[in-house]
Amino acid sequence: MSILILGIESSCDDTSAAVIEDTKILANIIAGQEVHKNYGGVVPELASRAHQQNIIPVIDQALKQAKIKKNQLNAVAFTRGPGLLGSLLVGTSFAKAFALASDIPIIEVDHLKAHILAHFITVDKHQKTPAFPFICLTVSGGHTQIVKVDDPYTFTMLGQTIDDAAGEAFDKAAKIMGLPYPGGPYIDKLASKGDPLSYKFPKPRIPGLNYSFSGLKTSFLYTIRDKLKEDPSFIDKEKENLAASIQHTIIKVLLDKLVQAAKITGISDIALAGGVSANSELRKALKEKGTEMAWNIFIPDLEFTTDNAAMIAMAGYFKYLRNDFASQDIAPYTRSNF
Ligand code: KG4
Ligand code: ZN
Repeated sequence: MSILILGIESSCDDTSAAVIEDTKILANIIAGQEVHKNYGGVVPELASRAHQQNIIPVIDQALKQAKIKKNQLNAVAFTRGPGLLGSLLVGTSFAKAFALASDIPIIEVDHLKAHILAHFITVDKHQKTPAFPFICLTVSGGHTQIVKVDDPYTFTMLGQTIDDAAGEAFDKAAKIMGLPYPGGPYIDKLASKGDPLSYKFPKPRIPGLNYSFSGLKTSFLYTIRDKLKEDPSFIDKEKENLAASIQHTIIKVLLDKLVQAAKITGISDIALAGGVSANSELRKALKEKGTEMAWNIFIPDLEFTTDNAAMIAMAGYFKYLRNDFASQDIAPYTRSNF
């Protein structure tokens, strides 16, 4: 008999609900929050309020689209953390109440592990999934990690950022250029028309497999500040080249460490995950690197790159197989517990 799981994601600024039947997605509904656009970043208080408004409609829609009745569900999986506390509380409390009313178990899911496990969502039946152990480069707005995955339950952090995440580097560069939040997709679009070698930014020298992106942001800021003194319309004239150059540098930094991780571990199944994996140049560069290094590359479908509940339901499914359920007194956590 197949297992039906309702997934709920509310860690940051997307309210999402999904229904999964074993590894197959029946619905994946995402409500974004426009309210943060004017603030240059996510405003936690506004995010929690929007989650509270969106959560019931999003869940209703997911169940309707999946053509599933509440009483058919086997479990509810929810994001326990990391993320914004107020946002996480909305999803966590809803999951608890829903499960109690429906007399089904709850499953707590780590958001970052879920980004990785999104690779096991069945999109089409010929699709290949990574073979264990594999390495995943998780690049999101809050995290940048190189993780070794031995099985769906065993994750080892090989490296991570010591300051800004890759997504933050994109978003901060975009903010400096006066682009809306989140700026990653705007940089991606502008970069496609620019020359990636027109501006040089120093690459961080961080030992081991860790990353650092805060110096890059500062160097980008100073370059622009100096040029603006000579020409006030500098950003406008050069936005495509600036976007292409900063994007090129971020990708180079990301891939250099990934190559090191693959060499150290001898692992050649390499996956990408997280919001920044929507970046068109990163996807292309990883494919090229994969060919050069003879890696098997796994890049998520665009739908499963940024925050979504399908990945939460997927991670929940693996835990369901082990009867790994949470109790009603469980609380969210805001920081990664890797
Ligand atoms: O995983 P995600 O949706 O949320 C977090 O868990 O953080 O990632 C959001 C991040 C943002 O920083 C956003 O700018 C970035 O992913 N992003 C992109 C692109 N699409 C989203 N960055 C670069 N290029 C894109 N196309
Ligand atoms: Zn995320």
